[in-house]
Amino acid sequence: MADSTRNDGKGGSGKRPGHSTRAVHGGERDHHADHSLATPIHQTSTFWFDDSAQLRDFAEGRLVRDEYGRYSNPTWRAVERKICDLEGAEETVLLGSGMAAATTTFLALLERGDHIVLTNDCYRRTRQFIGQVLSKLEITATVIAPADTIALKDAIQDNTRLFFTESPTNPYLRVIDLPEASRIAHERGVKVIVDSTFASPINHAPLEDGADLVVHSATKYMGGHNDLIAGIVAGPKQIVDPVRALTGVMGGILDPHAAWLLLRGLKTLGLRMERHNANGIAVARYLEAHPKVHQVWYPGLESHPDYKVATRLMNGFAGVVTFEVEGGLDETIRFIDGCRLPYIAPSLGGVESLVEMPVLMSYWDYPKEERLQYGITDNLVRLSCGIEDADDLIADLDGALEKV
Ligand SMILES: Cc1ncc(COP(=O)(O)O)c(C=O)c1O
Repeated sequence: MADSTRNDGKGGSGKRPGHSTRAVHGGERDHHADHSLATPIHQTSTFWFDDSAQLRDFAEGRLVRDEYGRYSNPTWRAVERKICDLEGAEETVLLGSGMAAATTTFLALLERGDHIVLTNDCYRRTRQFIGQVLSKLEITATVIAPADTIALKDAIQDNTRLFFTESPTNPYLRVIDLPEASRIAHERGVKVIVDSTFASPINHAPLEDGADLVVHSATKYMGGHNDLIAGIVAGPKQIVDPVRALTGVMGGILDPHAAWLLLRGLKTLGLRMERHNANGIAVARYLEAHPKVHQVWYPGLESHPDYKVATRLMNGFAGVVTFEVEGGLDETIRFIDGCRLPYIAPSLGGVESLVEMPVLMSYWDYPKEERLQYGITDNLVRLSCGIEDADDLIADLDGALEKV
């Protein structure tokens, strides 16, 4: 008989395997009946039953299996198990986008009349959902500055259920002192949810630092190839289960083929993050020293307000570098148009470098005063360093800055 522990992907040392080992092997040692090494794409909408007795066993909980493709799929499950391994989570649910992950989580965990606290530097669509959709359920929100744990304490009310934050935030890459924020929230019975998209599970493990749930836009570093849109929610089963149940109702699920692409992307996550981290710091240092750059935000630079927290909590600072070009809109446009390697595109975290001007892209429709409240100045640039050679990226930025 085959020894099922032989290929369990854990290695013989008894220690928890490292990030890259978990990224490659986690969740995939299912010993497929056909001995295929790669997890198959279960491209099916539904699953058939042998007879009504089997149906009854399933309905009455004696048999656990797949039933219909909006509720579960074996390819998804491989992704979910891999992410459990990477995040140190008991349970993970995979969804059709990062926004589906965040919005389904809010709706699953909140009741009419609840209150949440959120940090001000965050993805605009998350803020939009809270302001325009949750408000219809009379759910109110208090917005605080990311590093302000005193404001967090003051913002918590009797009906506060959640503290939601990104870490690092978007676009200023603020890093939350999560152990401290979680301590404050938990003292008052408030759950902590962290959107860890900008960190990836390689650079930060929010669940180990006190968060109750971690959400990701898996579109970014997890998928890593700018070729899919997906989201995940991970944490204890008791909190993830209601999110999974509501996903089956709301229907914001991922196609099995995209799930398989995500599974394949995740295998190289450790390797890719090493390069994103190296490129990020190299480019941030280069930009900081450049006379045509006004200011740089990167958590791995001593000048970043959260440098100390970031170096305490994170293993690396990833590929996104935010900076202001010296000058205004025209100078910044000249810089963007002068870039030859990075694509001008929204998104981040993929192998190709992407550059964006929030004033013309993610915030183009905001009135100036409102956009400035969010710190979106005319000369702000968000660069997502891909995995190209750092020298080539820097040479390209150098050429573009000469045009300023
Ligand atoms: C931090 C963060 N969270 C969530 C999202 C939404 O993710 P998706 O585009 O996968 O829906 C984004 C998108 O840019 C993001 O930057």
